[in-house]
Amino acid sequence: MRGGEWVRNEGLEPVSIIWGLDMPKVEITLEEETYNKLVELSKRNGSTMESLLEALLESSLVDMDEFADEMISHTARVCGRGNPSKPLHYPGGDWWIKDEIIDLLVRSGCKTLVEVFGGSGAISMYAPRSVFKNIIYNDKDSLLTNFFTVLRERPRELMRRLALLPVSRELYYRFVELIEGGEIRKLAPLERAAVFFYVNRVGVDGKPKGGFKVMTGADSTTTATRFRHHMLSLIEYAKRWADVTIENRDFREIIKLYDRDFVVFYCDPPYLSTEADREGYYSISFTPGDMRALLKALSSIKGKFVLKLHEDQLRVPFVSDWVKMYNVKVVEHYKNMDTVVEEKRPKQRTLLIYNYPSLHSRAPHSSMGGLERWLTGENKSNKLCALCEED
Ligand SMILES: C[S@@+](CC[C@H](N)C(=O)[O-])C[C@H]1O[C@@H](n2cnc3c(N)ncnc32)[C@H](O)[C@@H]1O
Repeated sequence: MRGGEWVRNEGLEPVSIIWGLDMPKVEITLEEETYNKLVELSKRNGSTMESLLEALLESSLVDMDEFADEMISHTARVCGRGNPSKPLHYPGGDWWIKDEIIDLLVRSGCKTLVEVFGGSGAISMYAPRSVFKNIIYNDKDSLLTNFFTVLRERPRELMRRLALLPVSRELYYRFVELIEGGEIRKLAPLERAAVFFYVNRVGVDGKPKGGFKVMTGADSTTTATRFRHHMLSLIEYAKRWADVTIENRDFREIIKLYDRDFVVFYCDPPYLSTEADREGYYSISFTPGDMRALLKALSSIKGKFVLKLHEDQLRVPFVSDWVKMYNVKVVEHYKNMDTVVEEKRPKQRTLLIYNYPSLHSRAPHSSMGGLERWLTGENKSNKLCALCEED
């Protein structure tokens, strides 16, 4: 294969087969004989766009690594690299308040950090290595842990797989079917990671039920360019995972396994009985029994913890009773929504509950003081990130 023009014949438009929607054409030359063999192969499967791509991937007619590398260089030239910061779009993500969370975790004085409900792994990625010498990311969802493991171990190969995929509604829904039908679990780890990332980045809100993302912003960003910026950043993301241990266990096991007095557990469990839960944001459901088990486990650990809860979870009596025993930091922030920008977003409050001395170096105590006043509306702050310590 050498640079130059595609052999354009048979009316199959091979360039758009590779690139899908709204990408300028890439110029790749195949030997005419090779190209004709590919067209033959694809015809057997009905001459669809995907069938040519599949034929290309399955055949040994071209050096796929070389082909993918050309695609990657071309993509970087055409799309630029953008300014991406995290590989996955994830519901309930900590991204917007990660600085507040990390600041509190650092104040625990611990050297080991366990992110118990890892999700997109924002905390594992950005926790300061000067403080935390050992970082453990855990999630029960093996699609997530497989993705981060492949990202850490084989970022270049992952990038190559993704560089060959068109950004198209058809392919998105085919991949969604693979996830929803469970077929994805039969794929090899690399392919599983590629499909998972694709659906996450091409769909709305990162979830399979979200649907194909339509971007209508005035700037030149499209679903395709956004996807490709993230694809081009995989090597950079991988560096942030190089020193992270990845675990795929239930929270009960992980807490038991790592509990030491120098360990801080960061827990961001799925919402309990809220709208989000019913919409199926996460592939694993979290029951009131799970929440009780988590609170019980945290009450008796040797180490430290920070538990993130949404304000509305205090309506659950066993949760609010439990929270009273600990210190609470309240973070007020804009809701993370793709469709609405900045100040137009609704605000929400998140509680960070922790079991070590407060920022004012006071011992944990049982009075709800500041938090109660805040809940009843007497202590509302208009600041973006209000810090309401108990007094
Ligand atoms: C609210 S999300 C975490 C979001 C994460 N903090 C972030 O910033 O992306 C909760 C996560 O807990 C995981 N999970 C659900 N049940 C679990 C369990 N029993 N043990 C461990 N992880 C679980 C889900 O797969 C989901 O990724």
